[in-house]
Amino acid sequence: MKELKQFFYLVLVVLATATMSCTKEGPQGEAGKDGKDGIDGTNGTDGANGNSTCMECHNDESDLFLKQTQFEHSTHFVDGPSHVGYANYAGGSCSMCHSNEGFLTAVANDNNSGGSHPEATPMSCGTCHQIHKTYTTDDYKMHYTKAVDMYLNENDVFTGLEVDATSQYSDPNGMSNTCIKCHQPRHRGDTQPDPTVDGTLEISAGAAAHWGPHYGAQGAIFGGVGGYVGTTDPTAPSGTKGHHSCKSCHMSFIASTGNYGEYLGGHAMGLRKGDDTVEFGACNTCHTDRGATIDLEGIMASTKALHALLGQDLMDAGIMDAEGHLIGGTWTNKELAAYWNYALVKNDHSYGIHNKEYSESLITAGRAYLGTNN
Ligand code: HEC
Ligand code: HEC
Ligand code: HEC
Ligand code: HEC
Ligand code: HEC
Ligand code: HEC
Repeated sequence: MKELKQFFYLVLVVLATATMSCTKEGPQGEAGKDGKDGIDGTNGTDGANGNSTCMECHNDESDLFLKQTQFEHSTHFVDGPSHVGYANYAGGSCSMCHSNEGFLTAVANDNNSGGSHPEATPMSCGTCHQIHKTYTTDDYKMHYTKAVDMYLNENDVFTGLEVDATSQYSDPNGMSNTCIKCHQPRHRGDTQPDPTVDGTLEISAGAAAHWGPHYGAQGAIFGGVGGYVGTTDPTAPSGTKGHHSCKSCHMSFIASTGNYGEYLGGHAMGLRKGDDTVEFGACNTCHTDRGATIDLEGIMASTKALHALLGQDLMDAGIMDAEGHLIGGTWTNKELAAYWNYALVKNDHSYGIHNKEYSESLITAGRAYLGTNN
């Protein structure tokens, strides 16, 4: 922060000099000596207006400062740097979700492929927002607001899966689609199960440890897609969706400090407190006021209990180990579909809050595939 401020004031001095002397070309040339100054120098042509525009965002009272402080408490900021190396791994197949450059590449190409980035940087403000384009608060517009054509569609087992948060509660413009683009599952290529097909698939012990939909299952569960339900068209979208949007639960309902009191919500985005319980206080003000209280803790507890039943079935059948990993072996499509559903609900982490009906359907369907549902 300090460095940024010092640097910023330096830029301001350069701009101010440019304005006072009315000879814009000269002082700008000087600023160009170090890389970043050069870019900002170009904006010096706006003269006095340029300065006040900068100060609109770059001052200690502004949203910028508040959001930076919150963001520094997010998992994105804290853990992002330790995972950014994935951006140059596995042929670029990780970079969309684990780096700034990969995400912006996938957005520019309108697909789910970030490409390889040896010089990748972790997520920052400009990953989601259009920083320094117009130098007005318009720059806080998102890069990506369209419905997400799910990555799973690249596998023949799935078709036409799309998740869209536009017009979901408090999100008329689909800002949460930014979240869904990263928080979506990955497919498993040749070993993606299809429970309508008889026969088996072999998963090696090495592949089994990572087999499944990957961690970012939230967008799929929220949109009611990406798992297996029933036997006729098991991958069809369920049609159930949560009432809220990602940002309405993880970022909104906030006081002017922009968080729930210990850097929860806002740009910190997490809802789990230091004592490892979930902050439902701000949710309950609304839910209780409406009279018809939704028992949020109750939803999580009951979904967790149901999920544990499927987990036990999978362990009893020797498909899954006690850590929740698939065990290498030759499994039927239905068995793998049951494990997929288990992992999708597990990796969503919300146990029914993102989409209770769909989470329950996945668990019930998983048990039906194993024949343990009665
Ligand atoms: C709409 C708000 C906004 C305006 C207006 C704005 N900036 Fe920024 N600026 C940002 C944000 C957001 C960042 C990223 C901060 C971070 O990463 O924590 C940033 C970062 C910077 C940085 C750090 C280096 C970098 O590029 O990341 C400098 C220097 C900077 N701005 C200078 C300026 C100057 C000079 C102007 C006026 C010509 C200006 N800014 C106008 C929002 C703004
Ligand atoms: C560029 C990809 C990307 C985008 C966009 C993104 N996330 Fe994330 N998110 C991640 C990754 C990756 C992690 C895991 C931490 C890490 O390695 O950075 C994560 C972690 C999280 C966590 C914490 C999970 C935990 O285990 O503690 C929450 C909550 C979260 N994101 C919510 C959101 C919301 C809400 C949005 C949209 C406003 C969003 N994310 C947008 C990639 C993304
Ligand atoms: C479609 C987006 C996406 C892709 C592609 C992706 N990830 Fe992730 N990954 C995520 C998200 C989102 C999280 C965090 C989810 C959460 O915490 O609930 C995550 C979490 C992780 C974690 C766990 C981090 C931790 O310790 O909490 C690891 C490890 C990981 N990813 C590795 C990889 C690797 C390796 C690849 C490429 C082979 C990859 N990811 C590709 C979205 C993705
Ligand atoms: C993971 C995506 C993501 C990242 C990274 C991110 N933001 Fe945001 N930001 C959002 C979303 C979504 C909203 C809308 C939140 C809401 O409406 O409650 C938002 C809202 C804002 C707003 C309010 C805009 C308005 O029009 O009122 C500001 C200011 C802002 N962000 C600044 C920042 C700054 C500064 C950073 C970096 C420190 C940052 N954001 C990083 C997603 C992100
Ligand atoms: C501004 C008011 C308001 C706040 C604050 C609020 N909710 Fe809601 N919530 C609603 C309304 C309205 C509904 C729709 C009620 C219905 O379907 O009966 C709803 C429905 C839900 C549902 C069931 C439908 C679904 O989305 O699956 C859940 C779960 C839920 N809210 C969770 C939360 C959580 C968690 C929080 C806090 C992070 C929260 N709510 C905060 C107004 C609110
Ligand atoms: C109805 C409110 C609500 C909505 C809508 C919602 N979330 Fe959540 N989310 C929660 C709650 C509550 C948890 C559980 C918090 C926990 O266990 O840390 C959670 C958990 C998560 C986690 C795991 C956090 C962790 O600490 O392990 C991530 C990541 C996440 N949500 C991302 C998203 C994304 C992306 C969206 C939009 C697709 C979304 N959420 C929509 C309320 C919501």
